[in-house]
Amino acid sequence: MVATKGGLRRPNGAWTVDGDPDWLRASCERSLQALRTDCIGLYQLHAVDPKVDFRRSLDALIKLQENGKIRHIGLSNVSAAQLESALSLALIASVQNRCNLFDKRDFHNGMIDFCQARQITYIPYSPVGGHNGHARLSREPLLLQLAANYEATPHRIALAWLLHKGQHILPIPGASKAASIRDSLQATNLALSAEDIAALDRLPDR
Ligand SMILES: NC(=O)c1ccc[n+]([C@@H]2O[C@H](COP(=O)([O-])OP(=O)(O)OC[C@H]3O[C@@H](n4cnc5c(N)ncnc54)[C@H](OP(=O)(O)O)[C@@H]3O)[C@@H](O)[C@H]2O)c1
Repeated sequence: MVATKGGLRRPNGAWTVDGDPDWLRASCERSLQALRTDCIGLYQLHAVDPKVDFRRSLDALIKLQENGKIRHIGLSNVSAAQLESALSLALIASVQNRCNLFDKRDFHNGMIDFCQARQITYIPYSPVGGHNGHARLSREPLLLQLAANYEATPHRIALAWLLHKGQHILPIPGASKAASIRDSLQATNLALSAEDIAALDRLPDR
């Protein structure tokens, strides 16, 4: 399943939000061409645009779905209230929010439980702490200790922790090196004890 997003622009390398329906349609067409496909498996609204009525952005994705250009609709960087309002208009397949050992907001605010109850896939982005933040994993004594105990790496422990939190959780670690991908994949075979999961739960947020 290929998943991608629309709803941001990159003027001179900056990230800006644009949830205008015309822009969403154009972005989707560009992705279809770039991916050389006629239907994208999961198309996610990258962020809610405060300048555009959320229902108009969502309606653009619903039309893309009706026209067979995308199979499933997902949302990214959303609050529980935004998700609930979207659910009254469309079937939402996934929520992609920032979530990792140092950013447990969506565990605390009920978003992850809500997604589970509504059978929505929860996709934690920056799951090992982010492009720069991931280095912190290798400085955290608890992570170093667990990595030694399980003969794993701190990154693998961090991903295994997320995977243990629910069948509906699908972390998407980024990587520029093949070695990082190979290492991260092994998190799917790492069984953490309940005690160690609880210790990781207690690790303070940033
Ligand atoms: N929806 C959104 O608004 C949003 C925002 C940000 C990111 N994302 C998405 O989230 C995904 C990943 O997020 P991210 O790149 O920000 O953060 P991340 O996955 O937490 O961190 C990526 C960094 O961690 C390193 N890494 C990952 N796994 C590793 C391993 N097993 N061992 C050693 N190093 C490892 C990588 O190193 P190397 O580069 O050395 O391999 C990479 O630099 C991407 O698909 C991105 O598109 C979405």
